[in-house]
Amino acid sequence: MANQEDKFKKVISHAKEYGYVFQSSEIYDGLSAVYDYAQNGTELKNNIKQYWWKAMVQLHDNIVGIDSAIFMHPTVWKASGHVDAFNDPLIDNKDSKKRYRADVLIEDYCAKIENKIEKEVTKATKRFGDAFNKQEFITTNPRVVGYQEKIDTILSRMGSSLEKEDLEDVRNLIDELDIVCPVSGSKNWTDVKQFNLMFGTKLGASADSAMDLYLRPETAQGIFVNFLNVQKTGRMKIPFGIAQIGKAFRNEIVARQFIFRQREFEQMEMQFFVRPGTQKEWYESWKENRIKWHLSLGLGEDNYRFHDHDKLAHYADAAADIEFKFPFGFKELEGIHSRTDFDLSSHEKHSGKKLQYFDHEINESYVPYVVETSIGVDRMFLAVFSNSLVEEELENGSTRTVLKLPAVLAPTKAAILPLVKKDGLPEIAKEIVEDLKWDHKVIYDEKDAVGRRYRRQDANGTPFCITVDHQTIEDKTVTIRHRDTMEQKRVAITDLKSIIDAEVSMKEWLKRI
Ligand code: GAP
Repeated sequence: MANQEDKFKKVISHAKEYGYVFQSSEIYDGLSAVYDYAQNGTELKNNIKQYWWKAMVQLHDNIVGIDSAIFMHPTVWKASGHVDAFNDPLIDNKDSKKRYRADVLIEDYCAKIENKIEKEVTKATKRFGDAFNKQEFITTNPRVVGYQEKIDTILSRMGSSLEKEDLEDVRNLIDELDIVCPVSGSKNWTDVKQFNLMFGTKLGASADSAMDLYLRPETAQGIFVNFLNVQKTGRMKIPFGIAQIGKAFRNEIVARQFIFRQREFEQMEMQFFVRPGTQKEWYESWKENRIKWHLSLGLGEDNYRFHDHDKLAHYADAAADIEFKFPFGFKELEGIHSRTDFDLSSHEKHSGKKLQYFDHEINESYVPYVVETSIGVDRMFLAVFSNSLVEEELENGSTRTVLKLPAVLAPTKAAILPLVKKDGLPEIAKEIVEDLKWDHKVIYDEKDAVGRRYRRQDANGTPFCITVDHQTIEDKTVTIRHRDTMEQKRVAITDLKSIIDAEVSMKEWLKRI
């Protein structure tokens, strides 16, 4: 656990030191759970969004993208159920006066049991070596099976109590598990209450006529209310999808874990409209498609797992999370939800406008069913960033910090370095920058000894360092150094573009899906 915490602290400090993420309004001591993306973070975030957009919109001829407003008519949130049901169960500790999400306290308790399972697995891996079969071990080892049963019993009881709005039982569960406040160490808890997560604001200048609005808590509703506009103007035939990337806002009770849970964040959502009765197939198909998208980035198959929801949201008939192994354990990265016809039907009722589709194949009008994929940009950022940050022991006994970002997402693709700041080398290096910058984000760096510049670019996540030396003047060749292997090769300047293209081209990475 201490190790995990140390690793996470390193992630946060590295993100600041290398210009990825800053605390918002830092000179005023920051604003809780709000962050700014810095110069490198913005590039990484834009690349993540582009990787998603291309995979979803450009590569599917039946998916189109929109960009709807953050402000929406307040009735939207009544219709969507958010006014009545977008709540988190909160609980206060009377001694520390700290507020918690009751479900998160219980989940954290289960995460501790899960750590015990991981420890058993690590021990067994060492004991059995190559002969170790993890799947067999976790399904047969009595201690591990016992731990897993305990987790399942707790989570299923919590799920059904929340489903039934039985907050007293959630409180009882916290008592029975002897969960203490992490700050005061006491079990002096209040009752569990519901807390609505939407931020309210006002539209209009005069106090009398101002209209109460909400900042959208999800981007999905902007898609639902535009369903018919897009279907008609795009002449879309079911099944088809509408995708969107945009900001969402939630007044999270417990906002911690850096950019994992923020009050202002960004979502990449896609609603896929299907014929009623076919939603189960599409739900399975999107689960498969989305996990392939994740795996294409090469962050390691073992870092992902599916988690089926015990407690279904008010709109869903099936739901699963893709969880990622963050530095603080497996947590939700993306949700795939079969949302039935809940949203469109409810908007029909509240707006009085028909939101139906005439299906020529079966000669019938219906309200389509919807399968949604929804991933947080910031969580994806954290997954990629934290997984990529490694400390490597080198052969000479020294260590290097390297940010092994998937090359396709790296903010800077190559750094061009003159070996020395004289003899015409800077001029050649700058010419190379001028030439490459039309296709790739590249930078020029002449400060410090070349070894230190390599280390700086390693820590920055730059996949290539290109060094101009005295031989360059003679034969127009340079050395190109690969971040991960540290291998250097001598290549012609004229080949640089194609060498970089081959490793960072989005097309090549997306083909793996
Ligand atoms: N439209 C469905 C929806 O919003 P959700 O599971 O509440 O579903 C989807 O959110 C995704 O948005 C999550 O999987 C997560 O990646 C991201 N997300 C949700 N709340 C967040 C927060 N407070 N901070 C950062 N990301 C968040």
